Amino acid sequence: MSLKIAPSILAGDLGNLRREVERIEDNADIIHLDVMDGNFAPNITFGPGTIKALRKYSKLPFDAHLMISEPLRYLDRFIDAGCDIISVHAEVCTDKTFDDVMNRLNKDGVKAGIAINPDTEIPDWVISRLNSIYLINVMSVQPGFSGQKFMPEVLLKMAKVDQIIHDKGVDTVIEADGGVDTSNVYELVRAGARILVAGNAVCGQPDAKKAIRELKEKALPAIKEV
Ligand code: DX5
Ligand code: ZN
Repeated sequence: MSLKIAPSILAGDLGNLRREVERIEDNADIIHLDVMDGNFAPNITFGPGTIKALRKYSKLPFDAHLMISEPLRYLDRFIDAGCDIISVHAEVCTDKTFDDVMNRLNKDGVKAGIAINPDTEIPDWVISRLNSIYLINVMSVQPGFSGQKFMPEVLLKMAKVDQIIHDKGVDTVIEADGGVDTSNVYELVRAGARILVAGNAVCGQPDAKKAIRELKEKALPAIKEV
């Protein structure tokens, strides 16, 4: 697939999320929504009610990244809010609970994602289900906050995940998330990332549209060389 930029509005003006959505609408490909429960992640952000309220201001796909301990418990509400992609964390799932998550998402045509923390290796139960997983979010910061420093050691794991995806012949997309900016997008795309989440590098900038263009300019040559 081509390269997609998914700005995280968490890095924007939390007092005016409607404006954050509107200022990236024309240039972004996906809107990334970082949901945290103060339990799995050491921060509390927003939930399905906020996402539902924002849905009417955007036509872009909504990508909810659930950094919450009990995703199954709240899944219905995120589906109802209008999310197009919903990712849950491998650290809070078993093969069994993830199957329940996928069955629930499939029922409403919502794409399933799985996210892994920087220090989590891709579990075998994820590898065996890759053909049903739309994206794998390979995090390059610890869940919690926008504006953290990129962890370059994640690049090696990302390349391994990319190899697994190729070996299995599946279409799962790698999403890079955490500290993504113009200094590392080239390497991330070389390592296999095709969705680039960018919080501070886009929504933290006064000219978000320009920031998206610059990320693409730096990243695209890495695809052309593959
Ligand atoms: C971290 C979130 C990220 C983060 C991205 O817990 O999952 O999506 O908000 O923001 P930046 O790009 O600023 O690291
Ligand atoms: Zn995220």
